[in-house]
Amino acid sequence: MLSVVRGRVAGGESLPRALAGAPGGPVSVQGLLADHDRAQRDLLGAGDAVQRLLEDPAVTDVVVHAARVWVDRGHGLEAVPAPVGSESEVRALAVRLAALAGQRLDDAAPIVDGVLPGGTRLHAVLPPLAADGTSISLRPLHQRDFTLDVLAATGMVGEETRDLLAGLVVRRANVVVAGATGTGKTTLLAALLALVPPTERLVCIEEASELRPNHPHVVHLQARSANVQAAGSVSLSDLVRAALRMRPDRVVLGEARGREVRDVLAALNTGHAGSWFTLHANSSADVPARLVALGALAGLDPAAVAVQAGAALDAVVFLRREAGQRWVAEIARLDVRAGTLAVDVVAHVVEGTVHHGPGWEGFRARWSP
Ligand SMILES: Nc1ncnc2c1ncn2[C@@H]1O[C@H](COP(=O)(O)OP(=O)(O)O)[C@@H](O)[C@H]1O
Ligand SMILES: [Mg+2]
Repeated sequence: MLSVVRGRVAGGESLPRALAGAPGGPVSVQGLLADHDRAQRDLLGAGDAVQRLLEDPAVTDVVVHAARVWVDRGHGLEAVPAPVGSESEVRALAVRLAALAGQRLDDAAPIVDGVLPGGTRLHAVLPPLAADGTSISLRPLHQRDFTLDVLAATGMVGEETRDLLAGLVVRRANVVVAGATGTGKTTLLAALLALVPPTERLVCIEEASELRPNHPHVVHLQARSANVQAAGSVSLSDLVRAALRMRPDRVVLGEARGREVRDVLAALNTGHAGSWFTLHANSSADVPARLVALGALAGLDPAAVAVQAGAALDAVVFLRREAGQRWVAEIARLDVRAGTLAVDVVAHVVEGTVHHGPGWEGFRARWSP
C-alpha cells in the first residue's frame, strides 16, 4: 500500500514518514500507526492538514481560500497555519473531495455542494469564479450525542425552557426553530425529536442529511442538485410533497430556505400537526419577514403567507450564540393582526434568567407537557 501512495498527495505530506525517518533503522509501531492515520486522512479524508481540523470537536467550520485556511471554533473565523500546499494542490483537493461526495468539479461544473462520507458538508468553487483561487468550505458533522440533558448542561436550555420545549413536542405544536448559522438549530431540533413517542413515524427532509434524532422510526430524505446536463434535480419542495404521501406522523424540514416554505405551510394547514422546521433569522421578530421573503420565491403574496403561517405555526424558538455560548433566547407565538404576521415574545432569556412577556401564562397553559 505504501508504495502506491508514496509521494505527495493533494493537501498532504510525504506519507511514509516512519520509514523515511529511519533509513535502515528500526521502524516504530507508533510511527507506522501515525503513518497509517495520515494516509487515511490523505486518501479518505480532506488531506492530513484539513482533516485534523475537521476532527477537532470544537471546530464547526473550516474554509480554505487562496491556499490559506481558517477555522471557526465558536468565536468567528480565525486564520490557522495549516499546510495545504499551493493553489494547484488546493484545487486538486477540491476536485478529490467533490468525487468523494459523488459529484463532479471541473471547468464545466465549477461549483459543488455535497456531503462527504461521514457527513461533512462540502462546498467548493473553482477559479475563475472564485477570483483569488479555489475556495473550499467544509462543515464537519460531529456525531455527538446531544441529548436534551447534555444541551441543558451546556446552558442551552434552562429548566423552565426545557419543560416548555418538551411540551411543544409531545403536545404536537408546529414550531419554527430560528437563529443565525451555527447557533445550534439543527442540534436542538434533533435532541427534541428524540422526545417524539417511539410509535410515531418521522420524515426528515433536508438539503443534506444532518439530523440524527435518537428515535426508532426516522425516514431521511435528501434533496439532489441537477447534474451537468441540468437534469435530475429533486428539490426540497418535491420532497415535502413526497413526504406527505409517506404516512408521516411528523414532517420535519431541516431548513426552510426557499420556495419549499409554501409546501410546508400548506402541509401544516392540512392537518400535519407536530411538525418542525428551522429558519435562518436574526431574531424572533425577523421571522415574519423571512417567511414572507421565502413565500415570495414561491409566488405567495405577504397576505397569503400571513394567513397560512398564522394559522399553521404555534411557536418560534429563537437561538442565540455569543462568546461561544448558545442558548434558547426567545420563545414566541405567532398571530395575525390587521392582515400581517405578528410575533409576541412570551419568554426572553438573558444570562440564564427567563423573563416572561405578556401571554406567557396562556402559552404555558396551552403547551405544558
Ligand atoms: N449546546 C452546544 N454545545 C456545544 N456545541 C454545540 C451546541 N449546540 C450545537 N453545537 C455544535 O455547533 C455546531 C453548529 O450547530 P448546528 O446545530 O449545526 O447549527 P445550525 O443548525 O444553527 O447552523 C455543530 O457542530 C454542533 O455540534
Ligand atoms: Mg442547521
